[in-house]
Amino acid sequence: KWTNFSIIEESITQIRSQVGERNVLCALSGGVDSTVAAVLTHEAVGDQLTCVFVDTGLLREGEADQVVSLFSSQFHIKLVVIDAASQFLSSLAGVLDPELKRKTIGNLFIRTFEEAARDIDAGGFLVQGTLYPDVIESGSGSAALIKSHHNVGGLPDDMSFALVEPLRFLFKDEVRAIGVELGIPEEMVWRQPFPGPGLAVRIVGEVTEEAVGRVRAADRIVREEVVRAGLARSMWQYFAVLAPSLRSVGVSGDERTYDAPIIVRCVDSDDAMTADWARIPYEILDTIAHRIVGEVDGVNRVVYDITSKPPGTIEWE
Ligand code: XMP
Repeated sequence: KWTNFSIIEESITQIRSQVGERNVLCALSGGVDSTVAAVLTHEAVGDQLTCVFVDTGLLREGEADQVVSLFSSQFHIKLVVIDAASQFLSSLAGVLDPELKRKTIGNLFIRTFEEAARDIDAGGFLVQGTLYPDVIESGSGSAALIKSHHNVGGLPDDMSFALVEPLRFLFKDEVRAIGVELGIPEEMVWRQPFPGPGLAVRIVGEVTEEAVGRVRAADRIVREEVVRAGLARSMWQYFAVLAPSLRSVGVSGDERTYDAPIIVRCVDSDDAMTADWARIPYEILDTIAHRIVGEVDGVNRVVYDITSKPPGTIEWE
């Protein structure tokens, strides 16, 4: 049986032999997967590693600052921060199809890393925190394509990187255990999963700055209320989805409104391969609904997603 210790030792040896004396970049998102991948790689090759954090403009409120300050206060690993928000937004203009959205974002990510690699003379390696379920659902081997996970199926064919994926055969709970073993702080180890393509796949329709602003504001409210209720650790994920082109009639004061809904999605899961919608207390849903309609412009209705996976997926796109 694999123990965490033997997984760690084995990965370090593996990374060392793959990378040799060369430099390597790590795509850091601040989540547990990429943080564990970065720390393992750092243990293996030390200063040959540079982490790159890309602010896509599709992150949650306050996320970029939080990740950068937590990471740099915890680890002595080189970190480059790239603000690419305007490139991401403009490349997503007019893109409605979920798979095309994922491919567009995956492409731009790699182009951004390629540019960073030129700047720091990286040796052609890119470390990613890809997990086993990402590989499966991206339709590798005989498995069916469910969606192109950003770090797998969403990548361009002609990229100039060889991938280093030390977590490719692991599930999230194993990665969390290894994270604890490696001394990664609890608040990183227990962050809820967030998809690589970010808020873009939580807007059912075109990604505009305005739509990102709306879903980001709703997401903040969901997170605040779930944390306040003490439910954050017990749920796999909790977030908001915006359906900007679906509109319904409502009333505010004595004015008619005709605005978009926010879908609240909270799920329990062990590994994201299957999931059940979370039975969170009505009072919390009520507070979330009131706050979203009251605080987020252009939203007049809140619905709760009671679909499990399967037949739904966790994200909407
Ligand atoms: P789905 O929506 O396929 O999501 O049920 C399963 C889990 O994966 C996360 N997710 C992603 N994670 N890159 C990632 O790193 C991605 O492109 C991506 N898409 C979905 C999702 O949040 C859930 O935890």
